[in-house]
Amino acid sequence: MDKVLTEEVLETVPGLENTAYTVSRGIHGAVLSGGTTVRAIADFFHGVWLGHPLHPLLTDLVVSTWTLGALIDLFNLNRRESRFEQAADQLITLGVAAAVPTAIAGFTDYSTISQRAVKTGMIHGLLNTLSLILNVVSLTQRRKGNRNNAVMLSSLVAGMLTFTAWLGGELSYRYRVGVNKNQTPDRPQDWTPVMSEYDLAEGQAIRREVDGHPVLLYRYGGTVYAIGAVCSHEGGPLEEGSFDGYCVECPWHHSVYDVRDGSVVHGPSTYAQPNYQARILNSQIEIRLPV
Ligand code: FES
Repeated sequence: MDKVLTEEVLETVPGLENTAYTVSRGIHGAVLSGGTTVRAIADFFHGVWLGHPLHPLLTDLVVSTWTLGALIDLFNLNRRESRFEQAADQLITLGVAAAVPTAIAGFTDYSTISQRAVKTGMIHGLLNTLSLILNVVSLTQRRKGNRNNAVMLSSLVAGMLTFTAWLGGELSYRYRVGVNKNQTPDRPQDWTPVMSEYDLAEGQAIRREVDGHPVLLYRYGGTVYAIGAVCSHEGGPLEEGSFDGYCVECPWHHSVYDVRDGSVVHGPSTYAQPNYQARILNSQIEIRLPV
């Protein structure tokens, strides 16, 4: 992967990657050891309920309100009309309110970010946190009537957002954070023999390539289940995960999937695994996509 300028700059900061990675996995460790309530909260902020990462959806609200508020402030700089001041104040306030869950969702995703993206993720998070602090200060300045200070701070934030939003784009499009790592299979449409049933013991999991797609086969309670073998989150090998009843936990960042339908039980993954029907015919395990 070619490096961009920010990546080369970040690499010159001693210890940044180690620190960023330690913080990231420290948060993840706290989530895992925090019990079912903490895990449920983390799942919520990952966006498991949405079937899509929550963070990028919320950032649109923050970027749009803060940018529009700053533009109205600048437009009103010489006019000093109260209706524009009110509009700008309300937009900055709305953005601050939206920035809190946005930041929580961002740090939740950061807790399981891939190592190659961790430095960019940390700078993105820190600058956005600084933006939130500056706009909170801007709001207090607005209430005190220090309009020029408030406008200066909100304008500074709007400028910083251009850079941090670009970093967010880097995280999504360059490092593919939050992108489904599975290719949605369109085959097999017909029942396809995969392996002998005698090669898959009770409780055993095995990976097989079927029409170019990696498939996890798992036998539990005498029934064979088949889902995509590549974890949707960052591509972890599910056949190396830990199995508990109908659930498989990814060995990389502990997403949990239900092998009966590939659905996400726990994040960080928000995308269900490809799901196959499986049967045993003439001692052969066969699979196909649901019809
Ligand atoms: S690769 Fe991250 S949870 Fe599977």
